Amino acid sequence: MESGDCIIMKYRPKILVVGSFVMDLIVSTHRFPEQGETVLGDGFQTAAGGKGANQAIQAARLNAETSMVGRVGNDAFGKELIHSCEKNGVECSHVVIDREKPSSVGNVQLRVDEDGKTQNRIIVVPGANMAITPEDIRFLQTEIDRYDMVLLQLEIPMEINELAAEYACAKGVPVMLNSAPSDRISRQLLSRLTFISPNEYEAADLTGVTIRRNGNEVDLDDVREAVNRLLEMGVENVLITLGSAGAAFGNCKEFFMVPALSGVTPVDPTGAGDSFVGAFSAFVSMGINTKTAVQISNYVGALTVSAMGAQPSLPSLEEVAALIRERGEEDLLSVVEDLLNHGETVSKGGQSS
Ligand code: RIB
Repeated sequence: MESGDCIIMKYRPKILVVGSFVMDLIVSTHRFPEQGETVLGDGFQTAAGGKGANQAIQAARLNAETSMVGRVGNDAFGKELIHSCEKNGVECSHVVIDREKPSSVGNVQLRVDEDGKTQNRIIVVPGANMAITPEDIRFLQTEIDRYDMVLLQLEIPMEINELAAEYACAKGVPVMLNSAPSDRISRQLLSRLTFISPNEYEAADLTGVTIRRNGNEVDLDDVREAVNRLLEMGVENVLITLGSAGAAFGNCKEFFMVPALSGVTPVDPTGAGDSFVGAFSAFVSMGINTKTAVQISNYVGALTVSAMGAQPSLPSLEEVAALIRERGEEDLLSVVEDLLNHGETVSKGGQSS
């Protein structure tokens, strides 16, 4: 916040996620197989995931009042995926149980090197996520203005994202699109976005700008160029996640980079991008300025990387505060403590502030 600015905080903003549910089937290995090769893995587990549900749960764990719209199959995974959202306070009354398509599954291969470096590869079979119909979200035509922000990703039909953005735009509700996995996006959809958040590879696909990298360093001119191209395409604000190089934010007034947090022991990167986007969206909707929102979201992403599985690793506000306290970042800590204090008031009184 600039000095002199008067910001009215909204401690429990209403966030709507129209998006995917995926059951992640995670295989750990010390080496990815070559083509045609079989390797013996080190472990297997399942964890609830899906970019939409991950972002919804992250926003809810940071105290946003969050709702999710989407589809799951009429199967055990579907029940578990809804349960994972609901137990984290995500409202799911508009989630449809699809009678024909199965719940989506994600084949997550997680490589853990001897030196502790981790990498993943994910194949998502969309199942019910791609069966969402315009009818499923028709209620939003009149109800979307109940929300402070709408979050979209690209694991559901593009037609649904177009429609949700159209409804939101008509009522002046900000839209965040996490443009993952990579896909073509129409000019019309881009022009309706308040925020777009691609990673560096998705940004390259959208803009044609390859962001050159040397280890943990990225070429700043390339990042600026990618940001500018997305702004020229009609998006208002651009947030590019750059993995170990941190994140970049730009709009017509400002451009800044925030480095990744050092000294974090990586366990599993799955869901880190989702936690970052879900957190940033929640913080900005609360009234926190963009730079502080990116800085705190960095902590959220770092905590997600430090634990196994997507949804099980998404941190609470208390966990974020503890890490910021440990790192001695007093300015950020005072912002998070303010949120925590108001969060307590909300949960005791059971009302939104
Ligand atoms: O972004 C991570 C998520 O992408 C995983 O949880 C997986 O389900 C895929 O949707």
